[in-house]
Amino acid sequence: MNPLLNELNPYPFEKLRNLLGDIKANPNLEEINLTIGEPMHAVPEFIPQILADQYLKLSKYPTTTGTDEFREVCSNWLKDRYAVTVDAKQQILSVNGSREALFSFAQSMLDTQDKETYVVVPNPFYQIYEGAAILAGAKVAYANTYAPRYIPKWDEIEPDVWEKTQLVFVCTPGNPTGAVMNLQDWAALFELQKKYDFTIASDECYSEIYFLEKPLGILQAAQVLNLDFSKKIMFTSLSKRSNLPGLRSGFVAGDADLISHFLKYRTYHGSATSGLVQEVSIAAWQDESHVENNRALYQEKFEKVMPILKQKYEVTTPDASFYIWLQVNDDLKFTQNLYQEQSVKVLPGSYLARDTDFGNPGKNRVRIALVAPLEHCMEAVNRMLNYKG
Ligand SMILES: Cc1ncc(COP(=O)(O)O)c(C=O)c1O
Repeated sequence: MNPLLNELNPYPFEKLRNLLGDIKANPNLEEINLTIGEPMHAVPEFIPQILADQYLKLSKYPTTTGTDEFREVCSNWLKDRYAVTVDAKQQILSVNGSREALFSFAQSMLDTQDKETYVVVPNPFYQIYEGAAILAGAKVAYANTYAPRYIPKWDEIEPDVWEKTQLVFVCTPGNPTGAVMNLQDWAALFELQKKYDFTIASDECYSEIYFLEKPLGILQAAQVLNLDFSKKIMFTSLSKRSNLPGLRSGFVAGDADLISHFLKYRTYHGSATSGLVQEVSIAAWQDESHVENNRALYQEKFEKVMPILKQKYEVTTPDASFYIWLQVNDDLKFTQNLYQEQSVKVLPGSYLARDTDFGNPGKNRVRIALVAPLEHCMEAVNRMLNYKG
């Protein structure tokens, strides 16, 4: 057995299950689950017809790169969304959602043979970054994020760790904080990159769930700052943008050299995207109206939910995403008591972050995902208002 598997941390949901253990929800109130970031808005209405029309695509093995048409459509989307020019053949690959891509990218680019290697991740963070680093044989260094902006505090990482850092994950808009990196934040990270020569993997899967201002992406930031895409790669998917988490479809774009090595890895890994999935994805990336509707639904939830929460809690609307990063007195007790008293399930912030020399930035926070229908979200926050603790 690969001994590194033993070093993986339990997933936050597993910890939550243990935390709640035998605690029963209030039998008089229907349970509302705000823990999972799984989109629940409707699948775009044009999808079923494409599935029916294109099912013969299932009779062929797909190529690892993705079809020319798929990559062309992704490249056009990047141009429309970010005003960046990306060569569809050299700088884009189809992936089966961003999760597997974030994981496998780390396997493809980290060189951990006979050397101590670090991967830097934001703290709190999406746990796949950490697992990817560990299974590649690297060590993980955590850059905490603090209120009010929740941008990783890179200077908490020691210079000797930076010297050994090959990869930095960023997540913008962030999960769980919703924080968006602005141009100055990117410039600061690119400066560090210049100094220490690491690769930046930018997880942008929440990029389309915003309020008014479109979040910047890594490629756009690099272009605005007159930098090339060297050692820069972005990850995105249709899961949040188009409410298609079950489709498992996304793409990566950026540095042609990174992409070509990643392609080599993926050819052996065997992670080509089904031709049928690519046909659906082509339609989804070409349509923005369903994305606008989707955004409007999340905006409405925030507009209605935040004033209620603010009556009792210290809370701010995030820059983007569908998460609320709520401050509470004791995240573990709060999670247990809220469930027992009000039948509302939230995720303890300390399960989404790690202890560091500077503390655990998830402590006394809980993550609330506003994915359930509006009425459920409203009911949940009203119960949180009534919560006695
Ligand atoms: C920050 C972050 N990155 C990546 C993913 C993976 O999403 P997908 O693989 O569906 O693109 C998620 C899913 O919840 C996420 O929260």
